[in-house]
Amino acid sequence: VNNDNQILVIFGASGDLTARKLIPAIYNLYKKKYLPEKYAIVGVGRSAYDNDTFRKKAVFENEHLKKNGDDSLDEFAQLVHYHSMDTSDAEDYKKLAERLYSIDGYHGTNCNAIFYLSVPPSLYSVIPKHLASVGLNKETNGWTRVIIEKPFGYDLESARALNKSLLEDYHENQIYRIDHYLGKETVQNLLVTRFSNSIFEPLWNRNYIHRVEITSAESVGVEKRGGYYDGSGAMRDMVQNHLLQLIGLVAMEPPVKSDAHNIRNEKLKVFQSLRPMTKDDIRNDVVRGQYLASTIKGESVKGYREEEGVNPESRTETFVALKFFIDNWRWAGVPFYIRSGKKLPTRVSEVVIHFKPNHHHLFMNQTEVNAQNMLVIRIQPDEGILIKFGMKVPGAGFKVKNVNMDFQYSELTDAYVPDAYERLLLDCMQGDATLYARGDSVEAAWEFIDPILKAWKEDPTIPIYGYPAGTWGPENVDDLIEGKNMAWRYPCKNLADDGIFC
Ligand code: BG6
Repeated sequence: VNNDNQILVIFGASGDLTARKLIPAIYNLYKKKYLPEKYAIVGVGRSAYDNDTFRKKAVFENEHLKKNGDDSLDEFAQLVHYHSMDTSDAEDYKKLAERLYSIDGYHGTNCNAIFYLSVPPSLYSVIPKHLASVGLNKETNGWTRVIIEKPFGYDLESARALNKSLLEDYHENQIYRIDHYLGKETVQNLLVTRFSNSIFEPLWNRNYIHRVEITSAESVGVEKRGGYYDGSGAMRDMVQNHLLQLIGLVAMEPPVKSDAHNIRNEKLKVFQSLRPMTKDDIRNDVVRGQYLASTIKGESVKGYREEEGVNPESRTETFVALKFFIDNWRWAGVPFYIRSGKKLPTRVSEVVIHFKPNHHHLFMNQTEVNAQNMLVIRIQPDEGILIKFGMKVPGAGFKVKNVNMDFQYSELTDAYVPDAYERLLLDCMQGDATLYARGDSVEAAWEFIDPILKAWKEDPTIPIYGYPAGTWGPENVDDLIEGKNMAWRYPCKNLADDGIFC
C-alpha cells in the first residue's frame, strides 16, 4: 500500500470515540505498515494537555489498543501530537494552521490532511467554516478531506443546511460522511454476495423474493448516553443511517463499475424510490416502543424512563419496526421490514431474504410450516451466511424438512476482520469514498424518515408501546408481517439457531 504523506487532525481528541476506535484503528494500520513514510496524528481538544500527556492517555494507557508486545508503541506514540484550542474561536485556527505547518510530514511535503470531526453535531458546520477561513480547506499543494461523524442532521431541513454550509467551502469529494455500518466487513460482503455470484442475482427481485427483513437488535440499553439518546431515538440513531444504508446495498441495481460514483449513484436511486409514507401508513405500518423495567435472568433492570439523562415522561422510542415498499421495477410489491431496538433479548444484526414458495408445490402437504427458502446474511455476531432449504426426511413418503447450509467467517482460520473504523480511515487516506455516504443520498434518506418523525411529534394520538426489557419489542410488532404462518425471524446469537427463547 502506497499512501500519500499526510496528517490526521482529530477534533474531539479527548472523547470516547478517539480512544475507543480512532487511535486503535490507526495503530492497526501502523502495524500493518499502511501508514506513509511521513505521517502524524494531531489530537485537538480544549484540555490543556501537552504531547506527552496526550500520548500517555491516547496510546500508552489506552485499554482499547491491542498491543502485540510493546516494542512498537514508543515509535507509534511519536506520531501522536496534541494541540489545545477553543474550536469556537476564529483566532485559534490561525494558531492551529501554524502548528500543523510546523509538523514534519505536513509542511514541506504535500499538505495532505484529514480533519476528523469527532465532536457534538452543533460543531459540524462551525469547525469546517473556521478551517476554511484560514485556508485549511484549500487543495493547492495537496488534498484536504473532512470526515463527519453521524448524526448528519437532526431532520431533513438541518441535513440540507449542513450540506449547504459544507459545500460553500468544500467540494463534495472532500466530504466524508461516516456511517460505521458501511465499514463492517459483512456489510461490504453484501456487494460481493450479490454481484460476484451467479446463483443469487437472477432471483434477487419481485418474481422470487417474498419479503426482505432487516433486524438490528441490541441487548444493551442507553447506558451512559441517555442525554443524547433522549433527543434522538431509534429512528434517528439507527434507521435513518445504518439500516437505510443496508437497504441501499440490498436493493440497489448492479452498478456499472465498483467505484464510489457508480455504487453511490445506485444507492441514491433506491432511496429515491422509497414509497413516501402517508399518515395512515405511519399509523399502521410503523410501530414504536420504549423498554419498561423488567427482570432479565433474575436481575432487575431499569425502564428507559428511569435511565440517567432521560426525561421521566419521555416519548422517545427505543424500538422501532416498519414496513415499507420500494417503488421500482425490481421491487414492486415486495414488502421490506426493518426492526431495531435496545434492550432486546440478544445483540444481533442480520438481513433475511425470504423467497416465495414454488408455484406448484408437489410436496405441500408434507412440508413443515415456515419451510420457505431463506437466505440469512448475518452482520454480527457470528458473522456469516446461511441458506435454509427443504430436504427430504429419510424414510417413507416425501416429507420435507427445512435444513441449514451455512458459512461462518470464524471458519477462515487466517481471517483478520478489521474493525469498521480501520477500513474506513484507510479508505479516506486513499481518497476512496465508496463506503461513505454521499450528501444527496443522506438527504434522500431523511426525506423518507422526516414525515414519520413529524407525525410522531405533531400527533399525540399515535401510540408508543411499552415492552419489557429483554423481550423482542411491543407485542403488536408481529402484526406488521401479515399472512398465514409468517413472522419475524427470531435470531439467536449463533447464526444457525433461531427461536424466540434463545
Ligand atoms: C451507533 C448508535 O451509531 O451504533 C448506537 O449511536 C448503537 O446507539 C451503535 O449502539 C450500534 O453499532 P454496532 O456496531 O454495535 O452495531
